[in-house]
Amino acid sequence: MRLITINEYDENTMELAKPIYDSRKRVLLGTGAKVHPKYMEKLKEIGIKYLFVEDAKSKGISLDEMIEMSTWLDTIATVERAFMSSAKKEALPLVEIQKAIKKLVEEIKLRKAIILIPTSAIDTTLSPFAHAVNVTLISLQIGKHLGYTNHQLHDLGIGSLLHDIGKSQSTIREEHPEKGFNIIRSHRELSLMSAHVAYQHHETMDGQGFPRKLKGNEMIEFAHVCSIANYFENLISHEGMAPHEAIEKMMTLSDTVYPHGIVLAFSQSIIAYPPGTHVKLSNNESGIVTRIESHLQRPFVRLDSSGEEIDLSEKVTILIEEVIIEKKQQINT
Ligand SMILES: [Fe+2]
Repeated sequence: MRLITINEYDENTMELAKPIYDSRKRVLLGTGAKVHPKYMEKLKEIGIKYLFVEDAKSKGISLDEMIEMSTWLDTIATVERAFMSSAKKEALPLVEIQKAIKKLVEEIKLRKAIILIPTSAIDTTLSPFAHAVNVTLISLQIGKHLGYTNHQLHDLGIGSLLHDIGKSQSTIREEHPEKGFNIIRSHRELSLMSAHVAYQHHETMDGQGFPRKLKGNEMIEFAHVCSIANYFENLISHEGMAPHEAIEKMMTLSDTVYPHGIVLAFSQSIIAYPPGTHVKLSNNESGIVTRIESHLQRPFVRLDSSGEEIDLSEKVTILIEEVIIEKKQQINT
């Protein structure tokens, strides 16, 4: 299985490896289906930009590092319900939220790293909620790398899942962090730390963020973590950036916008070249990433020329030079 942009899809050689869902999370097209060109237009209309496919190139690639699609969709539904309750000024579905976080913590503990499902793999009306789930997965991944306890991961997770909950009560961008803080704080069962994640997730180390222009040392560490996760997820899902490019971009913000130690933990927690990525190597060969073993950024690559699989964590002189997008069309974001 591999993830491709919708413009790379070729009906003659590929079939779906994961279903495509609509805004009600109903299956539009199931696993094994081929996407008819006419249907392709409909998918583009509802904002689908990525597809999971099976083809000759994806043979032997399993994407074990990807979260279960059912868990992902269930958690998206939980966030949607939380937003709906909060919009009506009703209590948040706390038991459901807490269960969802427990499950996500289990998911990240099972794996070396998590491969994100881009929010544009489902109907665009669900993308704000899918964004929240992805931000939580990245935050938890960083938290795991920083050695957080289960208790800390839980509070960080709740804050990350609800970081934009303020948007359910205000359409003014500058207002949503404080609204979110108040919504979370009004639930005694939730930690004040989680509430501060929502309050501080747009603050930056250099004091240029909002709403309070806090400086780095005035912020809690969880907020830095969520803020990094939030920015990275936007680069991937909204701007359609490849993970390796987004990681490089984040590195340039280290020590100014984000604390170095947390950017470092982030870069060591995220897979730059997920299995299924087609890459050009510095020895003039090209190939497809098949799996990640010991080193997150130095995967195994199956060479196009010979079919031989090489381990880049051993062949340290060979570098990945670029990611190859098969049909030249870039996705429109
Ligand atoms: Fe936000």
